[in-house]
Amino acid sequence: MVFRDGILGGKSALITGGGTGIGASIAQELARAGADVAVASRDPAHLEESRRAIEALGRRAVAIACDVRDAEAVERLFAQVKARLGGLDVLVNNAAGNFLCPADKLSPNGFRSVVEIDLVGSFLCSRAAFPLLCERGGGTIINITATLGSQGVPLQVHAGSAKAGIDAMTRQLASEWGPRGIRVVAIAPGPIGDTEGMRRLAGGRDEEIARSIPLRRLGRREEIAWLAVYLASDAAAWITGATVVVDGGQRLRASF
Ligand code: HXC
Ligand code: NAP
Repeated sequence: MVFRDGILGGKSALITGGGTGIGASIAQELARAGADVAVASRDPAHLEESRRAIEALGRRAVAIACDVRDAEAVERLFAQVKARLGGLDVLVNNAAGNFLCPADKLSPNGFRSVVEIDLVGSFLCSRAAFPLLCERGGGTIINITATLGSQGVPLQVHAGSAKAGIDAMTRQLASEWGPRGIRVVAIAPGPIGDTEGMRRLAGGRDEEIARSIPLRRLGRREEIAWLAVYLASDAAAWITGATVVVDGGQRLRASF
């Protein structure tokens, strides 16, 4: 199998949170590789630019408003994807929420909100994708997690717990759905500099963060998206249940 242009030709993909940041880059790179792409998130204004960028690449593009915490809205989302793209081969669970807050000050609802967007939302979407992927004889689910799911990071108990749950869910579903031809994989980005989420969390500490990374820089959104293209393709046909870390070596914690 050669990794080449058009490697995702004939496939249909859905990216949650596909209107901004890493999700928008994944949407565009999947389209560039030949896939028709649907993007979904709460705010239609976030989705329109992304939809146009996919269309400009010559692919079918669909934007659908959906809160991934709402099980009924998620069912409607997948019904629309099926009606408008004809089916589904690739789901990217990318939607997430995050903010910095000391654990003892975090309200129950604050913890719940992030876990419900990241973990419960990924489950609801995976569950709704299952029959569509089965109709195609299999497919790929790519969960966007984070290195903080396997680290101990202050002020991030909600997001770290949610991402650790996503890492576990990746392994559980890979094992359960492998016999149906469905691969379930995860990408764990380290800090990606050109995203609003990271700009908010880093609060201008980019250079300090870069010094903690062996490769001495923050990541770029495309460096996540290119891996998503590979994982969605048949070139990755024997990879499942794995979380692939893309972090410039930050998890190694080399600090001098
Ligand atoms: C403390 C906060 C808070 C904050 C919200 N809450 N922001 N608590 N500090 N900064 C609490 C609220 O008080 C409320 O609890 C509860 O969280 C829900 O807040 P809402 O605003 O009502 O929720 P909602 O409108 O559903 O918004 C969800 C959200 C929001 C997660 C809180 O931030 C959001 O929509 N985020 C999407 C964009 C985003 O976060 N992107 C980052 C992606 S991840 P109470 O008790 O008052 O009801 C990312 C990862 C980087 O970038 C990785 C790092 C390495
Ligand atoms: P982002 O631009 O804020 O992306 C988050 C997306 O999720 C937004 O498009 C948002 O759109 C959508 N979303 C949030 N809540 C939603 C909900 N309830 N239902 C549906 N969609 C919802 O942040 P990002 O940095 O690109 O993050 C993308 C992914 O990468 C996340 O999973 C994040 O945890 C992960 N990650 C990022 C970094 C980084 O450095 N940036 C590092 C590690 C992991 P709406 O507001 O329109 O709903």
